[in-house]
Amino acid sequence: MTENQGSNLATPNVSADSSGKSPTTPSASSPATQRTVSNGRGKGIYRARIAGTGSYLPERVLTNADLEKMVDTNNAWIVERTGIHERHMAADDQVTTDLAYIAGTRALEAAKLTAEDIDMIIFATVTPDQPMPSAACVLQKKLGARQVMAFDLSAACSGFVYGMTVANQFIRSGLYKNILIVGAEVLHRLVNYKDRETCILFGDGAGAVILSRAEDNQNSEILAEHLFADGNLGDLFILPAGGSAMPLSQKVLDEGLQYVRMKGREIFKHAVRTMSQGCQDAIETAGLSIDQIDWLIPHQANIRILDAVAKYFGIPTEKVVVNVGKTGNTSAATIPIALDQAIRDGRIQRDQNVLLTAFGAGLTSGSMMLRY
Ligand code: UT7
Repeated sequence: MTENQGSNLATPNVSADSSGKSPTTPSASSPATQRTVSNGRGKGIYRARIAGTGSYLPERVLTNADLEKMVDTNNAWIVERTGIHERHMAADDQVTTDLAYIAGTRALEAAKLTAEDIDMIIFATVTPDQPMPSAACVLQKKLGARQVMAFDLSAACSGFVYGMTVANQFIRSGLYKNILIVGAEVLHRLVNYKDRETCILFGDGAGAVILSRAEDNQNSEILAEHLFADGNLGDLFILPAGGSAMPLSQKVLDEGLQYVRMKGREIFKHAVRTMSQGCQDAIETAGLSIDQIDWLIPHQANIRILDAVAKYFGIPTEKVVVNVGKTGNTSAATIPIALDQAIRDGRIQRDQNVLLTAFGAGLTSGSMMLRY
C-alpha cells in the first residue's frame, strides 16, 4: 500500500513541471474549485456498459529517424523527453472518417451489433474531414446507420471521455440503447514539420466504443465521471487559423498559421494536475480505493505525464496501459485505441475497474471510472 491508497485521498498538489521534478502549487484557476463530478449510477434507471471496442492505426509509420531528417531533433531527445519512438500517419487519400469507419466497424463486430442498431453517433475530433457536414454525419453515411442523432464533439484530447459521459446520460435515462462513440484524428495535417516542438508528438488513429444498456445480469457499468474545462488556459494550445477569427488566406499559409501551436511546458504542468484531480474525484465518487483500480488508461501524450499521474496515486506501472511509444499523441483517439488494444490482448477483463483520464486543448479534462 502506498500513502495514497484507501479512500482517504488528499487533494492533488501535483503540477509537476515538464522536467517531471518537483510538484508546485496549483494556479488561481485550479480545478479544485471548478469541478463538476457526477456519479455514473446516480439518477438514471439503466446502466451503461461497454459492449464492444475497435480501433485502427494507418499503415504508414513515421519514426524518430524519419523526423531527424526533417527537423533539428534526434531520437535520444524524443525518447527521453516523450517516450515516443514512432507514430502512424494516414495515407494521402485517407481522411478522418475513413479511420473511424474501420474502428467503428470493429467495435460493432465486437458488440455483435450492426449499424442498424446504432441509436446515436458521437464523434470526438479536432480534425473532421471538413467543417461541415460533421464527421459524425459522414460516418453515419459510410456505416449505413439509420437517421439517428449524430454530432461532432470538440473537446480536443478529452473528447472521447466527454463523449462517453454524454452517451452515458442517454443510456441511463432509457432514451437510447446503443451509442457509438468515436475518437479519431488525422493530426499530421495540422502539424508543421518544421516545428520540432510539436511535430515529434502527434500521430493519426481512431478508436471506437459501443456503449449499450446493460442487462440485469451484466455487471459492467460507468461508476463515475468528472469533466472539467478552463477557457482561461485556452492560449496554451491553439490552431490559430481556419475559423471565423482567421479565415484561410495567403497570409495564413505564408505564416503557417494553419498549424497547431503549443506551450509545451505549461501544458505539461496543467496536464498532470488536472488529470490527477479528475482521477481523484472519479475514484472517490465511485467509492473505490486505489488498490481496487485494475487499469489506468491515461491520455497518451507523453510518457512522463503518464508516469507522473500514476506515481501520484501509487498505481504500479504494470496497471497502466501505455502505447504512446508506438502511436504518439492521437488526441481524442488515444484512450479508445489503448482501451481496445488492452481488451483485445486480454489484459482488461470483464468486471475489472478501469480508470480513464484525459486532458486537452481548451483546456479540457475528463476522467471516468468504469467497471468493464
Ligand atoms: O494533448 C496535449 C498536447 N500537448 C502536450 O501533451 C505537450 C505536453 N508537453 C510536453 O510533452 C513537453 O513539454 C515537450 C515534449 C513538448 C517538451 O519537453 P520539455 O522537457 O518540456 O522540453 P522544453 O520545452 O523544456 O525544452 C528543452 C530543450 C529546449 O532547448 P534549450 O532552450 O534548453 O536549449 C528546446 O528548444 O529542448 C529543446 N527541444 C528539442 N530538442 C530536440 C524542444 N523540442 C526539441 C526536439 N528535439 N524535438
